Amino acid sequence: MVEFEATGVNRRGHPLIRTSAASYSGPYPSTECFQMAKKSSGSGFGKVFLGFLLGVAVVAIGLFAYLKFGPLPVAVADSPLPFEKDVVKLPLNARIERESKTAPFGISEDVFESGAHVYRAQCAACHGTPGHDVSYAKYMFPSAPQLWKKHGSKGVVGVSDDEAGETYWKVANGIRLSGMPSYSHVLSDAQMWQVSLLLKNADKELPAPVTAILNSPTP
Ligand code: HEC
Repeated sequence: MVEFEATGVNRRGHPLIRTSAASYSGPYPSTECFQMAKKSSGSGFGKVFLGFLLGVAVVAIGLFAYLKFGPLPVAVADSPLPFEKDVVKLPLNARIERESKTAPFGISEDVFESGAHVYRAQCAACHGTPGHDVSYAKYMFPSAPQLWKKHGSKGVVGVSDDEAGETYWKVANGIRLSGMPSYSHVLSDAQMWQVSLLLKNADKELPAPVTAILNSPTP
């Protein structure tokens, strides 16, 4: 049988009772109880954090396994993933808008001729020339647009509807995850503007010497 004996009062004025089993200074919750509650909530957070880490690890392993073994399209002949092209297109357009420049010089026959030399040597192999398309261009992914050809419902010739500054950006920086190279270490700044201004005017009647350069055999 448990016996009770009052032995005085504690600091808060609660009676201290001694029992034959253990001493109790009531009422509950005692400070011990608070300490226990604190401890258990601490380890609860630890568990959640551990679960979070485990979740991240599982996702990372899953992603790696999907990249290694999953049926991702890697051949040009595979059908593209939904929105695959937009992965580059959307941020690309936003970036070009932010960094777009204006040409440091205007157009003239000289500028077009210099641009045509650059185009013939560096670009024609992928983007074609007036009246001549590149056979493999459409079997690239993304395909290389033929820059002297009309396209779309409005029949726009190449990139003549884009600002020269936009084309300059693409020529200087290239386009990620595509065959479009960056020319900033291959061509001078002036050459990149010359070819960009030429392409802006690809829908116009160009002087005969310019067309002759574009259609000349590969150097
Ligand atoms: C090895 C092939 C290759 C060469 C060489 C190349 N390009 Fe490209 N270019 C591409 C491909 C592929 C794309 C399409 C990229 C895309 O759709 O994201 C492209 C895209 C472009 C575009 C954007 C077209 C559009 O519709 O917005 C321009 C402008 C362009 N190239 C200009 C040039 C110029 C100028 C040169 C030469 C100085 C050149 N390219 C050389 C492959 C090439």
